[in-house]
Amino acid sequence: MSRILTVRGGVPLTGRVQVRGAKNLVPKAMVAALLGNAPSTLRNVPEIKDVEVVTSLLQIHGITVVKDPVTGDLTMDPANAKTASSAEINTHAGDSRIPILLCGPLIHSIGHAFIPDLGGCKIGDRPIDYHLEVLRKFGAVVDKTGGGILISAPNGLKGTKISLPYPSVGATEQVLLSATRAEGITELSGAATEPEIVDLIAILQKMGAIISVQTDRTIRIEGVRELSGYVHTALPDRNEAASWASAALVTSGDIYVEGASQRDMMTFVNTFRKIGGGMDIHDDGIRFYRQGDLRPLVLETDVHPGFMTDWQQPLVVALTQAEGVSIVHETVYENRFGFTEALIRMGASIQLHRECLGSVPCRFGQRNFIHSAVISGPTPLTGATIDIPDLRGGFSHLIAALAAQGTSTVTGIDIISRGYEKFTDKLAGLGADFDVRDSAQALV
Ligand code: EPZ
Repeated sequence: MSRILTVRGGVPLTGRVQVRGAKNLVPKAMVAALLGNAPSTLRNVPEIKDVEVVTSLLQIHGITVVKDPVTGDLTMDPANAKTASSAEINTHAGDSRIPILLCGPLIHSIGHAFIPDLGGCKIGDRPIDYHLEVLRKFGAVVDKTGGGILISAPNGLKGTKISLPYPSVGATEQVLLSATRAEGITELSGAATEPEIVDLIAILQKMGAIISVQTDRTIRIEGVRELSGYVHTALPDRNEAASWASAALVTSGDIYVEGASQRDMMTFVNTFRKIGGGMDIHDDGIRFYRQGDLRPLVLETDVHPGFMTDWQQPLVVALTQAEGVSIVHETVYENRFGFTEALIRMGASIQLHRECLGSVPCRFGQRNFIHSAVISGPTPLTGATIDIPDLRGGFSHLIAALAAQGTSTVTGIDIISRGYEKFTDKLAGLGADFDVRDSAQALV
């Protein structure tokens, strides 16, 4: 049953929220447990939909997943890894893209893997060509079947030299998860180096992997025959933290984000300061607040250490409230401005462009994708009926509705549960004025 949110806007969000383990690390850390010869324990695991999906995917492959009822820590035992049917995988994968990252570990433990037709947020084509090319380089055989792709490696995976055409996060993780137990040395150039990737490397190193990261985006992995289990505390979710920071700006609020880590958010912190946001940085979190008028920005998204694409959508809502003209050039995904349609209906002034309005090298300018935005502000926002399109776009709609004059009706909010733990409880704790009901009208 899907849920519908009725939001009465205009209330500043104030108070504390806690962010736990990063959505973009935790599922991959769970997959890494498959590589061990003993159980692994992951701490700081958030209660989000993506964790449920990976739990089911591991379970149908014979991995025991036990959740500590008090701490929520997950202990995963890969001792009885087994083949799952493609029908089971299709049923449990849902919209998740995680099955692609199970390939390397599954090939090491049971010799093959199946990838169903993948989902994920609709923010572009989201192809898997880099992943398949990486797996082929390791010696895997890729066969397209009716409902997906079957990957096997009759002679095992062998270390290799790989150069990524773009520093893809997922493809870098694919290499790490495949190479650590491959025979021989793997050298990856053009790697992504996001903090979540560094945390995955830390986990693999705890398990016994030999991995070195060079400053020129090269990662070198010496394959080992066996890995042990790990005990690890997942790094905090910097994307959720940045989302709440934008929510504080948009609603003229004041939010202490427990768990926000300055070290992983330095580029965001610089941008937040330039837009005119107030900030107190502590060891255990960061207080983000609105202090007076917001200033416009020229912003380009990029791979780490650039400005994260996942920070862009919530911050665009704040830019609709800045005094003047802001320019945003999205260089990671070709289609991440779809969410602005609802903002424009709410009163925002946003023009979208196919041209690159910036200087970061970009794959989209010559290919006719709408990937730059010019935002003029400040414009008052008014309530609207909104259907949430994707995770970050959905959070952006939510904070726009919370800042708007009048009432908004927001459908599709379950997408937000994929990456934001207990977000309706958090909103209630911050003083937001809203009701949640299911589509059959009963208040829940
Ligand atoms: C991860 O996606 C994150 N998802 C995304 O977060 C995040 O936006 C993205 O990295 C960039 O930081 C998870 O970690 C689960 P990519 P991923 O491979 O790994 C192209 C969120 O909202 N590409 O770095 O799928 C791709 O189309 C989500 O939290 C290919 O062309 O991202 C994109 O343009 C959304 N072929 C670019 O590379 C491929 O085979 C970067 O994608 C793979 C990717």
